[in-house]
Amino acid sequence: MPSFRIAPSILSADFARLGEEVGSVLAAGADWIHFDVMDNHYVPNLTVGPLVCEAVRPHAVKDGKPAVIDVHLMVRPVDRIIPDFAKAGANMITFHPEASNHVDRTLGLIRDSGCHAGLVLNPATSLHHIEHVLDKLDMVLLMSVNPGFGGQSFIPHTLDKLRAARKRLDQYAAESSRKILLEVDGGVKVDNIATIAATGADTFVAGSAIFNKPDYAAVIQAMRRELAGIDA
Ligand code: DX5
Ligand code: ZN
Repeated sequence: MPSFRIAPSILSADFARLGEEVGSVLAAGADWIHFDVMDNHYVPNLTVGPLVCEAVRPHAVKDGKPAVIDVHLMVRPVDRIIPDFAKAGANMITFHPEASNHVDRTLGLIRDSGCHAGLVLNPATSLHHIEHVLDKLDMVLLMSVNPGFGGQSFIPHTLDKLRAARKRLDQYAAESSRKILLEVDGGVKVDNIATIAATGADTFVAGSAIFNKPDYAAVIQAMRRELAGIDA
């Protein structure tokens, strides 16, 4: 696994050519595909579901192997739809603690469906939510914008939470020998990715920064140049 993962969010892709977009961005050097699922209840926007995940699955290939589809669920309730995404080819499924009545159960359900599991914390959501479920987490995703839309600006205060999350996950790794990934989502660009990495993130979602540019490879290479030299 590369020490830093770049996960383009399909939210800013051309939905009329989604399969092609997924293939192009992976060929351009992306590691994962970040798949934003919104229900117009938990967040004020509506996107795609398991059928579209299943449709893009064959296009999510990197170097001849299936690439990770990182499904970010912004839906409430969350449990019913999890097995559908697992069947549709998701590899990582993350959800917001506010969207589940029983966070521990939902994490178990994701893992029992054969996927990796993660919790997503909004800018105003406390890091404490991870505390009693660390053993069931494969990733923590910190939102650096309020969820619902692409193209928003990175909220600088996220860096304080990111620093605290890095410290806690390092402490947990030392105790358990288990590494939990730390992803940041929202407003990630070429000009701030180095700071975000240096503060502790290892996985980066970027939607508009990549898909709004004509040359995906140029943006991803510029991001990798910024990441070079930062310890993972
Ligand atoms: C926001 C989504 C993000 C979004 C990121 O609710 O979770 O994944 O697409 O878009 P940018 O990178 O444009 O902020
Ligand atoms: Zn997202």
